Amino acid sequence: MSDCTSPYTRYDNPMSAGYRQLLDATIQHLESLKSRGVRHVAVSPETLRALGQAPARQPASLPARAPAASPQPRTMPAPPAPAARPAPVLPLAPAKVAASVLTERPVAPKLPPAEKAAAFAELRERALACVKCPNLAASRKHVVFGVGNIDARLMFVGEAPGADEDEQGEPFVGAAGQLLTKIIQATGLDRQHVYIANILKCRPDMPAQTSGNRKPTPDEMATCIPFLHEQIDLIQPTAIVALGATAVEGLLGKTIGITKLRGTWQTYRGIPLMPTFHPAYLLRNQAMSEKRKVWEDMLQVMEKLEMPISTKQRNFFLKAI
Ligand code: URA
Repeated sequence: MSDCTSPYTRYDNPMSAGYRQLLDATIQHLESLKSRGVRHVAVSPETLRALGQAPARQPASLPARAPAASPQPRTMPAPPAPAARPAPVLPLAPAKVAASVLTERPVAPKLPPAEKAAAFAELRERALACVKCPNLAASRKHVVFGVGNIDARLMFVGEAPGADEDEQGEPFVGAAGQLLTKIIQATGLDRQHVYIANILKCRPDMPAQTSGNRKPTPDEMATCIPFLHEQIDLIQPTAIVALGATAVEGLLGKTIGITKLRGTWQTYRGIPLMPTFHPAYLLRNQAMSEKRKVWEDMLQVMEKLEMPISTKQRNFFLKAI
């Protein structure tokens, strides 16, 4: 990948403030990809055409959101990709990048199944061997990489393993995890149809003789998040459910309260992302109204994935409120 740190001063043409902003954002985005090890981006024919235009004439507005999900049968594994012409893969060029790169997917090209499985296994090995946070590497029993179907169309992201997950090496197996499993089953799916991962792969360490959990520190999150980015790049789910504020913060960088954000579609690098309450919150707050909110968020996710929704499912928790 070429160095793309040079600012827009490379251009002789006068540029609009909007275009400069766009260019800055694009360069920032490419830097972030580069820091995650991405060496190429796939670009569409429209982008290629835009690349050929003079900067002064480039549109300042971002293109429309990603296309809607394809029809979804009840089983979640992704259907074979349509025989569309693959987008050409271009090395990243300095500065001259069209706006659509910001929102385009895939960031990495979809891999054939065997290569995808091998890349996932290699990523898992790297995560299991990670000692970048010496305190967490010393205190953990297991690195909790993730579980489920690597071809899943739906992915759940939580905060970090707790004691049960650290013990078993699998995310969401404790009390909150059992509730998450019930939520997944209420949609008609099972854990093996989806993929479940956390922002942090190690249990946040606690002072000696203390129990409970603590929120990951910003440093721990920044150190660990590249593993999750790579998981998502490989899985390329159709939708992501972010469970709780830490998941939203880790994936979107937004610290706005989960109460405000839940139920509203967000976008993680072109992938629709639904923020909702963490199941641990539902265990602390047993009000039907809160359960219904999470269920409403899941109904939106089911709609996005074009899953069948029965009247009974539509009405869950309604009578009790
Ligand atoms: N809470 C999380 O956020 N993740 C787990 O894996 C378990 C509990």
